[in-house]
Amino acid sequence: MADGKNKIVWNEKDRKFETEDKEAYLEYEMRGDGGKVMDITHTYVPPSKRGLGLAAHLCVAAFTHARNHSCSVVPTCSYVSDTFLPRNPDWNSIVHKEDGGSSSTI
Ligand code: COA
Repeated sequence: MADGKNKIVWNEKDRKFETEDKEAYLEYEMRGDGGKVMDITHTYVPPSKRGLGLAAHLCVAAFTHARNHSCSVVPTCSYVSDTFLPRNPDWNSIVHKEDGGSSSTI
C-alpha cells in the first residue's frame, strides 16, 4: 500500500485525510478542549479497494497527525473503534477519555 497511487494527503479545508484521487477518505471534526480533540466520524474505501489495508493506512495518517498536534482522538467511526484500534493497540494511548481529558502522555 506504500505505492504512490495510495499516498494519503491531508485536506485541511474539508477536514479529511484522503487518497490523491479522493476516492478513499477519513473524515473528522475538531471539537472540545480548545480544538484539541479529533473526532473521527467516518472512514470510506470504495468496494474495489477494500480488504487491502487502505482504511488502516488512512487511520495511521490521522492518528499520526493528531499525535503530532498533541490532540486526542475520539473513535466514533466503527472501523476505528472495532477494527483499527484492536489491531493497533499502541494508538489507544491518544484515545480521548470522556471522563477527564486524554490519556495521552505527550
Ligand atoms: N466496522 C468495523 N470494521 C469493519 C467494517 C465496519 N463497518 N467494515 C469492515 N471492517 C473490517 C473488516 O473486519 C475487515 O477485516 P479483514 O481484514 O479481516 O477482512 C477490515 O475492516 C479490513 O481492514 P482494511 O483493509 O484496513 O479496511 P478497508 O480498506 O477494507 O476499509 C471500510 C474498511 C470500513 C472503510 C470500508 O469497508 C468501507 O468504506 N465501508 C463502508 C463505510 C463504512 O462502513 N465505514 C465505517 C463506519 S464509519
